[in-house]
Amino acid sequence: MEKRAFSTASREEVNIDLLVSEGAIPTDMYGVVLISTACGTINSNGLPYQPLNPDGSENEEYGSPLINGDGFILKFDLNTAGKVNLQTGLLKPPCYFADLATSTQTSPNNPYKDLAFKNTGLARLSMKLGSRNEINTAITPVKFKKDNEHRLLATFDAGRPFEFDPSTLKLITAIGENKIWHSGLPPLIDQPLAMILTTAHPVFDPDTDELFTVNFTKDNKLLLSATHIFDVFYNHDEQWIMTELKKIIAAVEHKSTEDKYNAFYTFFKHTNLYKKIEGSSIIDRISKWFKHLWNEFYYKYISNVNAVMLLRWKGEKQLKEWTIVDEAGKPIPISYNMHQIGFSKDYIVLCDTNFKFTLDVMFNFPFQKEPIIDEFIRKLLGGAMNDYSMLYLIKRSDLTDDATQIKATSTRLPVETVHFSVNYQNPNNEITIHTAHNCSACPAEWIRSYDKLKVNPNEPIDSQKLGLIAVGEMDIGKIGRCVIDAKTGTLIEPQTKFLYLTGEENGVISKAHTWGVGLYTYKDMISAEKNVDHITHIYWQSYGLNSGLLTDYIYNLYESDKRSRVFSADQMVEYTKKGALFVIQCIDTDSLTSVDYYTFAKDQVMWSLQFVPKNKTNPNIPDSKNGYILTTVITGVPYNEHELTYQCEVWIFDANELNKGPVCKLNHPQMSFGFTIHSAWVPETKFVSKPDYVLNVKEDYDFMIQKVKDAAIKTRIQQLFDTEVYPHFPS
Ligand SMILES: [Fe+2]
Repeated sequence: MEKRAFSTASREEVNIDLLVSEGAIPTDMYGVVLISTACGTINSNGLPYQPLNPDGSENEEYGSPLINGDGFILKFDLNTAGKVNLQTGLLKPPCYFADLATSTQTSPNNPYKDLAFKNTGLARLSMKLGSRNEINTAITPVKFKKDNEHRLLATFDAGRPFEFDPSTLKLITAIGENKIWHSGLPPLIDQPLAMILTTAHPVFDPDTDELFTVNFTKDNKLLLSATHIFDVFYNHDEQWIMTELKKIIAAVEHKSTEDKYNAFYTFFKHTNLYKKIEGSSIIDRISKWFKHLWNEFYYKYISNVNAVMLLRWKGEKQLKEWTIVDEAGKPIPISYNMHQIGFSKDYIVLCDTNFKFTLDVMFNFPFQKEPIIDEFIRKLLGGAMNDYSMLYLIKRSDLTDDATQIKATSTRLPVETVHFSVNYQNPNNEITIHTAHNCSACPAEWIRSYDKLKVNPNEPIDSQKLGLIAVGEMDIGKIGRCVIDAKTGTLIEPQTKFLYLTGEENGVISKAHTWGVGLYTYKDMISAEKNVDHITHIYWQSYGLNSGLLTDYIYNLYESDKRSRVFSADQMVEYTKKGALFVIQCIDTDSLTSVDYYTFAKDQVMWSLQFVPKNKTNPNIPDSKNGYILTTVITGVPYNEHELTYQCEVWIFDANELNKGPVCKLNHPQMSFGFTIHSAWVPETKFVSKPDYVLNVKEDYDFMIQKVKDAAIKTRIQQLFDTEVYPHFPS
């Protein structure tokens, strides 16, 4: 048996029938489950990111967060009774081909090496080209009334969605031309691959035939760590740069904003002389630089603005955009991101979600080979998230074609929130939202090689866990049911409730719990054919507690007793010592109680879960439980006396009897995922006709290339796209 590392993932596209290792494949389930994952970069040949390149040199991608990788779709077809077929597909948007052509690993003699991409944290960036859109996070099914088949969108928080063919898993088109999306970076930065801040969960309303998504920009001081700025301050004497910048500012102080941008641009462009910086003084230099740039220059002159735009797509080339403002008509500041949005019959629900997919984690990994500097910058840029979340409610009747600016009603949830789902019905303008709460946890952080464990400080970090997201938590997670008066934005008591379960019995955590609340599923979740009026049963994942994942860094970020919390930092250390295993449980949303659960064994990690309906109704159980839960699981089994080897499995539970354990376990030597994220269920995945909103890729990207200010760089980027990108997208 070959030893397989914990996060091993292959980029090979396969089409295989899975093998049953336990139980039997249910014959009364149907449909297709699609799951998103990331499977490394064009350089890495899958996961994990190895410490050395094939030529023996240090690998700059080693230690990268696993979630920073190309989108890879796992498609489990359940429509042939007695079979589970797995088809996989690597998603290749235009930026993928730019990445491939500029890499010194895949194209050693390419003339575009200075345009190559690097993993810089959660983002993969090229200083001159911009940001990779990895479309690796979730899938949104869409079925307009004019469509005979389901359409599928691959999504990402930092890039526009792309439609892909459900049958072949090949990309069809981006949604919305580049020119309609607002870049999340400051206007100074003219890279053709703009970083678009949006939601990984655009939502489709089959009743009204509308898809909603968002695009937002931030007045964010943390932008200073971006692109050219890093190069400049790393390579030059700060006093000289300070003096020069002061001269520039004096010269442009009374000129237009555009002139200011251009002056800064010219300065950074010409400041490319290399000067080696040695010794520990680098720390002082970086520290000074952050303070100076932050306070005196960057924030003042070249920051973006706060703006939230709601976009509506009705299956056409053009999207309708509204600017969303608060009750006072002021711009809405987004602290973190807008990972989740939702809707009811009469309202759109936006959220500043506590998933820190923000610029500080996108750019705080610039010195991969210098852990001391990397650690310093993480401390400097990193911060604890708020212990609450802001929701913004938009009345759908306000969303007219003539309107351009819409006022939203704000609601403050008293607990940090990542994901949520909304009942479609909102009687008496009361919106019911089912919420997931990652309390005092940082799901966008990842484990670094220099991290120290809180519980066992002398124990080294498990190298197999490097880059893993969802590091240890500093309070117990919660499952919420929030009922909001949409007219006032107030939470209605006593209907609003938050559930937490320690799962303790006789001092041991052995029962259903909410330590590390993660993903969830329910019948007809994100269905493109019907809205769920009233969500009655939700199946939840809890990650548990693992002393090998709680780092000093996370402890220090979230130890404060000023945070709204259930357990103190000291208590959390004690609970982490006890440990808790992965759990899947069913929550009855009316009573907000756990009604069924299953606990996974040690060394079993459940990554994704998806409700699959049965093809016959059962009058004896609620319709919302009449199905199966398909899960992806990584199982550690002994490889020798001291080591484990990990295998990828699919486990299928009866949704009405989780406690009996999986009714079927499947595997295959060619099924290889390191982790998996969001999932979707559709009844079929047929080849779809080419829609008339397909974009002309050359026109779409030439528009962006034309905005590059430096003529020489512009010419080379144009050449790169003409020869290496556009040929893959014949019009
Ligand atoms: Fe998500």
